[in-house]
Amino acid sequence: MILIIYAHPYPEKSNINKLMLRLAANNPDVVVRSLYDLYPDFNINVEAEQVAVEQADLLVLQHPLYWYSYPPLLKLWIDKVFIQGWAYGPGAAALKNKHLLWAVTTGGEQDHFEGGDYPGFPVLSQPLQATANYCGMHWLKPVAVHGAYRADKTALTKQIRRYGECLNSWKDD
Ligand SMILES: Cc1cc2nc3c(=O)[nH]c(=O)nc-3n(C[C@H](O)[C@H](O)[C@H](O)COP(=O)(O)O)c2cc1C
Repeated sequence: MILIIYAHPYPEKSNINKLMLRLAANNPDVVVRSLYDLYPDFNINVEAEQVAVEQADLLVLQHPLYWYSYPPLLKLWIDKVFIQGWAYGPGAAALKNKHLLWAVTTGGEQDHFEGGDYPGFPVLSQPLQATANYCGMHWLKPVAVHGAYRADKTALTKQIRRYGECLNSWKDD
């Protein structure tokens, strides 16, 4: 099972993530949990989240980039769900050998993250990649959909399609 933990603070206003989710839904293995719909009061049901994660082979964290980071409910979700004795520490095995895919959308174009004035993706992905390593997960190459506001939709569509392909072929990586 592929579990997409989706963290968009304004899911009804989304354009790009909404398209990505629509595409992902074509994959019969995909289950989506939209955190801001489930927990508008930020009161996360940790047990329900852990049960969902335990059933997944691939965990996807999908969200728009907000100030070079994740929206706050996703950070809280990680803090609450990835706890000692379950996610890490002696005897913890819930996440071991699962795969983690970071799927992020950005307003900035790809070159915004490559010029050196702003953190590039190797830097931006460090906290999540380290978290995956710490919990014994396999880190997959992230999917980043750049240029959310651009008028020319062809390149955007191509990036979004790559997400669908990635969800279909992640086991080959
Ligand atoms: C509060 C806020 C912070 C944002 N910070 C960034 C940022 O740091 N870098 C960036 O490229 N885009 C940033 N954006 C743009 C969003 O990433 C962009 O609107 C989103 O990826 C588009 O996806 P959507 O159509 O699903 O909403 C920000 C947007 C908001 C509202």
